[in-house]
Amino acid sequence: MRTPKVTPIEKEIFLKEEDFIVSKTDLKSRILYGNRIFIEISGYSEKELLGEFHNILRHPDMPRCAFKILYDHIENKKEWFGFVKNLRKDGGYYWVFANISPTLDQNANIIDYYSVRRKPRDGFKSIIEPLYQKLKSIEETSGMEASLQVVEDLLNSKGLTFNELMIKIQKGIINEL
Ligand SMILES: Cc1cc2nc3c(=O)[nH]c(=O)nc-3n(C[C@H](O)[C@H](O)[C@H](O)COP(=O)(O)O)c2cc1C
Repeated sequence: MRTPKVTPIEKEIFLKEEDFIVSKTDLKSRILYGNRIFIEISGYSEKELLGEFHNILRHPDMPRCAFKILYDHIENKKEWFGFVKNLRKDGGYYWVFANISPTLDQNANIIDYYSVRRKPRDGFKSIIEPLYQKLKSIEETSGMEASLQVVEDLLNSKGLTFNELMIKIQKGIINEL
């Protein structure tokens, strides 16, 4: 299946407090499973989503380095936490706080990947939106190596790992960068 071209519009959909969005992919990031909320919020039918690459939901406002850091974690058998802006079929968007993990077999080989997402904490946008805008504009002028360096410098200045920083923002322990 080919990823349809969706034009983003300024229409935000919000998760409810009790919502958990779940999906599972194969090793090439093709969608194997999505729960009811995942399907509903995306605006696609289950048939349209299954077998499609997960980047069907990729929003152009997301910096590339966020996904590079994600795959560096999960391909190395580590879970990843982060904030993701997702694109709906109708062009609208929704923000999530995501955890993405590899499933390992008994020999510690990666079998598939799965993700659980929930509503981001109130106020997260004042931190994450300017950060992502900065990373995106760096990527446009200087490429992804430069944006990755900015993230690394930020983490070093805080003495935190990527996951630790994201969790502290979600918990409201960090309110500015
Ligand atoms: C289990 C799993 C869940 C994912 N969920 C999302 C998601 O909700 N939104 C998203 O944009 N990318 C998600 N990704 C990452 C996408 O596969 C893809 O790398 C990303 O959208 C960037 O796409 P691009 O490389 O074509 O720019 C997920 C990956 C995995 C393994």
